[in-house]
Amino acid sequence: MMLEVKDVSKSFSDKKGRKDVLHHLSLQVEDGEFVSIVGPSGSGKTTLFGLIGGLELPTAGEIWIDGRETTNKSGHVAYMPQQASLLPWRTVARNIELALIIAGVEKKKAKDDALTWLNEIGLGEYADSYPHVLSGGMQQRVSFLRALLSPQKLMLLDEPFGSLDALTRQQMQKWLLSLWEKNRRSVLLVTHSIEEAIYLSDRIIVLSSSPAIVIDEIKVPFERPRREELWMDVRFNELKQRIYGQLQESGKEAVYRA
Ligand SMILES: Nc1ncnc2c1ncn2[C@@H]1O[C@H](COP(=O)(O)OP(=O)(O)OP(=O)(O)O)[C@@H](O)[C@H]1O
Ligand SMILES: [Mg+2]
Repeated sequence: MMLEVKDVSKSFSDKKGRKDVLHHLSLQVEDGEFVSIVGPSGSGKTTLFGLIGGLELPTAGEIWIDGRETTNKSGHVAYMPQQASLLPWRTVARNIELALIIAGVEKKKAKDDALTWLNEIGLGEYADSYPHVLSGGMQQRVSFLRALLSPQKLMLLDEPFGSLDALTRQQMQKWLLSLWEKNRRSVLLVTHSIEEAIYLSDRIIVLSSSPAIVIDEIKVPFERPRREELWMDVRFNELKQRIYGQLQESGKEAVYRA
């Protein structure tokens, strides 16, 4: 098992009192499995990633990665945060180069590879720019690439394509799928797009509004490699409606792209 979240709770306390964000939450990701999490805004998805990434201590429960307990221990996941966090003092190319070097690629090769990868995501011409010159969506692409190139077996992606235009988003999904189908890492992805979750995942976990519990786990029945025509499939639409209904029930205030 690549990831086990065991009975995890998390509350935050401030002046106004205590807020329970996650409530005895358990979930698993198998080796090489692609799992998506959907849930209302504010349900605790990013909080959960912070716990899995070992950046925060759960109020109760344990995190296990690849057979070892990693509760409150960082360094065990490739993490793409919801807000792109590139190193501002390094050029775009040097940000990618660093990810490659950390992944064990030799320096000279890392330099060449960084440019190849940047071209792959359509940002070759920004190699020598600093991150602040890039648009939000471009920064997101670089941040995604950096997570992709990190060596850890488990990848956490928090809304990786959230601020991309529809066309770029589709291109990035397709690209992610083709890469993933080649080397099958374990992925846990947060998305607000139900279609994206179905198109990409083996399994979808539906969270309630906070305090978040798992309200459903759905095995996605479509064969791989996934075809784009899937979006037209009747079963695709049925699945979409089912998840949409569950989310409406659980978080009436949230707005979803169906
Ligand atoms: N460090 C913190 N201190 C206090 N409250 C926090 C902290 N981090 C998160 N929260 C609260 O926990 C709740 C869940 O936040 P979180 O960012 O995990 O939601 P989310 O599911 O990722 O939402 P979105 O889909 O909008 O990204 C929110 O009410 C938020 O205010
Ligand atoms: Mg979030």
